[in-house]
Amino acid sequence: MKNLYEVFVRPLLFSLDAETAHHATMRLLSGASHFGAALRALRSCQPASKPRTLFSLNFPNPVGLAAGLDKNGVALPAWAALGFGFIEIGTVTAKAQPGNPKPRIFRFPDQQALINRLGFNNDGADAIAQRLRALRESGRWPAVPVGINIGKSRATPLEQATGDYLYSFRLLRDFADYVTLNISSPNTPGLRELQEPTKLSELLLALGNEAGTSPKPLIAKISPDVSGAELKSILAVCEENGVSGIIATNTTLDHSSIPPQLDQPGGLSGAPLRDKSTALVREIAARSAIPVIASGGICDAESAREKFQAGAQLIQLYTGLVYRGPQLLREIMGKL
Ligand SMILES: Cc1cc2nc3c(=O)[nH]c(=O)nc-3n(C[C@H](O)[C@H](O)[C@H](O)COP(=O)(O)O)c2cc1C
Repeated sequence: MKNLYEVFVRPLLFSLDAETAHHATMRLLSGASHFGAALRALRSCQPASKPRTLFSLNFPNPVGLAAGLDKNGVALPAWAALGFGFIEIGTVTAKAQPGNPKPRIFRFPDQQALINRLGFNNDGADAIAQRLRALRESGRWPAVPVGINIGKSRATPLEQATGDYLYSFRLLRDFADYVTLNISSPNTPGLRELQEPTKLSELLLALGNEAGTSPKPLIAKISPDVSGAELKSILAVCEENGVSGIIATNTTLDHSSIPPQLDQPGGLSGAPLRDKSTALVREIAARSAIPVIASGGICDAESAREKFQAGAQLIQLYTGLVYRGPQLLREIMGKL
């Protein structure tokens, strides 16, 4: 049976192009974030809490918002009011950047999938740090863990990536309960090369040395397209450098589920990514003690349960929310 979002809201949003619908939703949630009455209304649909503790942080439930939906951190109170157990904002880059030319998000309703090639459009670390500071001072900071996902600015050459990540890290770490290093988006040329052992070591060492007096858990977000051998070396480097967690996975370049005449360049997310991403979660959990946060193709309670059974400690949603709405959260929580 369809839920209220699927019957009433999705047809309206899907009558708009994907990015316009995204901005309309974000304007609404960002607006709601400023009003106590609106937040109370959103809270009325909150699922019951199912607490978890990880990285010494308390999560009211294990279902989080994946990076990319709230890139600029404009709606943190609204996400918490909707019932997310944690919120990951970003990807934030050191420099503000417009991203790739539009159109750059494509829906595939028959496959419950999206392809995006946004290319880290975001306001940049300085503006986002300022926004987060204002939110903290307003007293509306959410009562759930907040992760900040950082990536490389497009204009920065790959050889200078470490300095670029460090810039964002220094500005944003005080606002983050954990920091995710996005080394796996397919839409910034060369970014995935940061998963190679030498480059990854350099990045992790530099950020580890910056930790200071109150170190924040560092999480690496990896691609579903890595080979077994690549995964093995990523895990070894992460273990050597004390990485706290791994997010598996980002979007895939495997578009075999999409009819060729409809295909678009970019990263594929949603239902077709489910199996590949679950397989990686299972492999990481079998090979390493590093906790896994699962992301990829969670569109119902069954696909969520599959991630936990594969060994995930927490899960994150993106494409499932576009197709199923916030009701998905309650559906998953109801069957956990
Ligand atoms: C439109 C769109 C934008 C995204 N932007 C980001 C991003 O900026 N940073 C990031 O780490 N992941 C980003 N992702 C990847 C998601 O966080 C998630 O890992 C991936 O989509 C798989 O989960 P899903 O199948 O539930 O969507 C994006 C995904 C989509 C669909």
